[in-house]
Amino acid sequence: MHTERVTVPFVRSSKVRSGSEPLTMVTAYDFPGARMVDRAGADMILVGDSLAMVVLGHPDTLSVTVEDMAHHTKAVAAAKPMALVITDMPWMSYHTGKRDAVRAAAKLVRAGAEAVKIEGGLKRAKAIKAIVDAEIPVVGHLGLTPQSVNAMGGFRVQGKTAEAARALVEDALAVQEAGAFTIVLEGIPDALARVITEKLEVPTIGIGAGAGCDGQVLVFHDVLGITEGRRPKFVKTYAELETIGVEALGRFVKDVRTGHFPLDEHSYHDTTGEIGKIYG
Ligand code: KIV
Repeated sequence: MHTERVTVPFVRSSKVRSGSEPLTMVTAYDFPGARMVDRAGADMILVGDSLAMVVLGHPDTLSVTVEDMAHHTKAVAAAKPMALVITDMPWMSYHTGKRDAVRAAAKLVRAGAEAVKIEGGLKRAKAIKAIVDAEIPVVGHLGLTPQSVNAMGGFRVQGKTAEAARALVEDALAVQEAGAFTIVLEGIPDALARVITEKLEVPTIGIGAGAGCDGQVLVFHDVLGITEGRRPKFVKTYAELETIGVEALGRFVKDVRTGHFPLDEHSYHDTTGEIGKIYG
């Protein structure tokens, strides 16, 4: 666990080529999750809009609102983590103009976010600059941007053609120029992530972007195995908590049904004898 608060300048200056350790970011959506990620020593906690999928059970991230993100940011911030708290700006909170974007970002900061994350490149540069000008640090997010799931025709690896790769490099430079202090690269070939990482002054944080980034991010539920079905190739699962949890919950259900819970040690007793005097 960090002994001092992780700051935006610390993250901004953490390039592996300058000798920094790779950055680590894990998502969290509530108080115990934030406490666990922080105790594990991660540099950043992302209150991701993956909330919609892994916590709320939706098929994509499009359903969550600024209010939903603020609600979960409050729970994460209540853990008072040393890790930097970053909150995703949800879909349609920064697409309708700079004023709307700054207002939405401010709501997330008031809920406890220390920075916000925005998906998209050149098209979003104005919104990023406006938020940065309002003194709110911004994280960029390029490549497989889940809020564009319908435009992309599904969750697909991006930047595979020369043209798409060139556009992503331009997007990364534009997002950096707009003031982002780090950029998440999701679902792109590792060779392209390396090129972008070399070209940028700010660090890159990969998810499904190979080992050449300045850091890595994973979703809490993927790391801990609280998932159903096939896991994406880029996920490494470090524990199978869904299996462990179901087994433990099943033992509780069985204990109740067979009279093994609660036992005497789990019960409060009539130590003063008052109840016995009346009803004994
Ligand atoms: O919402 C999220 O969890 C994210 C990460 C996948 C980077 O944006």
